[in-house]
Amino acid sequence: MKIGVLGTGDVGRRLASGLAGLGHDVTLGSRTADNPAAAGWAREHGGHHGTFADAAAHGEIIVNATGGLVSLDALKAAGSANLDGKVVVDVSNPLDFSQGFPPRLAVPEAGSVGEQLQQAFPGARVVKALNTMHNTLMTDPARVAGQHNVFVCGDDASAKADVADLLKSFGWTDRQILDLGVLSAARSVEPLVLLWVTLSGTLQTTELNFAIIH
Ligand SMILES: NC(=O)c1ccc[n+]([C@@H]2O[C@H](COP(=O)([O-])OP(=O)(O)OC[C@H]3O[C@@H](n4cnc5c(N)ncnc54)[C@H](OP(=O)(O)O)[C@@H]3O)[C@@H](O)[C@H]2O)c1
Repeated sequence: MKIGVLGTGDVGRRLASGLAGLGHDVTLGSRTADNPAAAGWAREHGGHHGTFADAAAHGEIIVNATGGLVSLDALKAAGSANLDGKVVVDVSNPLDFSQGFPPRLAVPEAGSVGEQLQQAFPGARVVKALNTMHNTLMTDPARVAGQHNVFVCGDDASAKADVADLLKSFGWTDRQILDLGVLSAARSVEPLVLLWVTLSGTLQTTELNFAIIH
């Protein structure tokens, strides 16, 4: 499948590598066509790189792995015509580091970044997923032993099914994939990142995840 990954940071490159490793045809997108991290990634993994618009045009599925405070700008640069009808997997968190560490959560007017993107691009099929764990775990859930969860929410059931298939290809099981319903659930999932940051500092590891017992 053709996949466009928007974001050249650790998350974008991690997901792009995982997807390319599974045989997908991946374009890694950046603000600029000549981003060195993206070019290096493409050389190493046999993928493509380009602008956000290039990546979005390429992808049948789009991954948003940009900072939550700039995701709207990144998707505007990607272009609504390149997003229409496509699944947009939103991995972002609206973390504000402007006052140092620990970060604060900057809640968008829409309630969450996921909803902000969905409102701005009504033709896209936004699914929030994978934002509550370190990037190493996203493509390799077995790094944390036992039962733990990946949260998914979105307004389009078939888009969520496509994302569940992608997650399963990374090794997530049906039991681990917890569908929280409509996209407004992102209002409760995005703030979990603050707890994640605290837990990671307390436990001195990034190899941790949320496990819901019920
Ligand atoms: N780090 C993790 O393990 C982790 C885990 C879960 C969720 N997340 C979330 O995943 C997202 C990506 O995190 P990250 O650490 O990989 O990368 P990041 O540093 O948060 O974002 C990097 C991307 O943001 C783009 N960007 C920066 N400023 C921009 C602007 N003004 N307008 C448009 N785009 C801009 C960059 O463009 P260029 O390519 O042009 O530089 C780059 O592609 C974040 O929302 C983060 O909260 C991270």
